[in-house]
Amino acid sequence: MMHLLKLQDLTANQINEILNLADQLKFEKKNGIQHHLLAGKTLGMIFSKSSTRTRVSFEVGMYDLGGSALFLSSRDLQIGRGEPVQDTARVLSRYLDGIMIRTFEQKEVEDLATYGSIPIINGLTDYCHPCQVLADLMTIREYKGGFAGNKLCYIGDGNNMTNSLIVGGIKMGMEVSVACPKGYEPDAALMQWASENGKFTCTDNVLEAAKGADVLYTDVWASMGQEAEAEERKRIFKGYQINADVMQVANKKAMVLHCLPAHREEEITAEVFEAHANEIFDEAENRLHAQKAVLVKCLGE
Ligand code: CP
Ligand code: NVA
Repeated sequence: MMHLLKLQDLTANQINEILNLADQLKFEKKNGIQHHLLAGKTLGMIFSKSSTRTRVSFEVGMYDLGGSALFLSSRDLQIGRGEPVQDTARVLSRYLDGIMIRTFEQKEVEDLATYGSIPIINGLTDYCHPCQVLADLMTIREYKGGFAGNKLCYIGDGNNMTNSLIVGGIKMGMEVSVACPKGYEPDAALMQWASENGKFTCTDNVLEAAKGADVLYTDVWASMGQEAEAEERKRIFKGYQINADVMQVANKKAMVLHCLPAHREEEITAEVFEAHANEIFDEAENRLHAQKAVLVKCLGE
């Protein structure tokens, strides 16, 4: 049985297989070809945080594949009142064919997999966002034709997105550079792994990181759960922005990605955002296709 708990658990081959299936499902959807590969299957979607893209793309993805999806807010589940995840996992395994969960602690996702008996898919934790990065890799491959020889530069908070981008980028053979303020670096163990397994740098100098980049990526300065720090973070992250100066030092044909939601004039200027809107919204669309591939791999076997 396959879970998707974090990208580290997938080999480069498995990532390529998911991306190939995602490309195929995208082509087929555009051409009106349906595959009810998950007929009769039900996905439970547990959310402890807000979501637009993840919720809608997973729900539509299940319907596209002939199955159904249940939106389960943790506020309404007993898990929100303290029912142990061990019990929730065993109960939901009796009703459902898979669970997608968005929550705070990575351990909660890992525990669901340990105690339950159905596939578990991570729809974002404070630690990582693997589904987003599969869609990002799919988009990079669409625009760049491949990964080798491309430099991926992330500017901003060393957060869940950064952690997954480092793993995905290095696994697929890209050079990865990160620019973030001191004290806001990505996970130390992942940075160590990246340095040992590819070309990786982390600096507090934005222009140094962006130099010659083929793909520029950013995310919000304050993630979900960090609302109380938002004002302080605005001061700390000032300048950690994708703007005209950054585009100037990047590769002339550089693409810009953002997982969304975006805060214009904070991590990205409105000008750069709109100039690269095609890439950013293709990326958002690809959440649907990449996740359908993940659902087929996890629930279809
Ligand atoms: N990028 C992303 O995961 O968006 P949502 O928070 O809207 O799901
Ligand atoms: N880092 C952001 C990503 C949202 C998709 C957050 O965790 O809120």
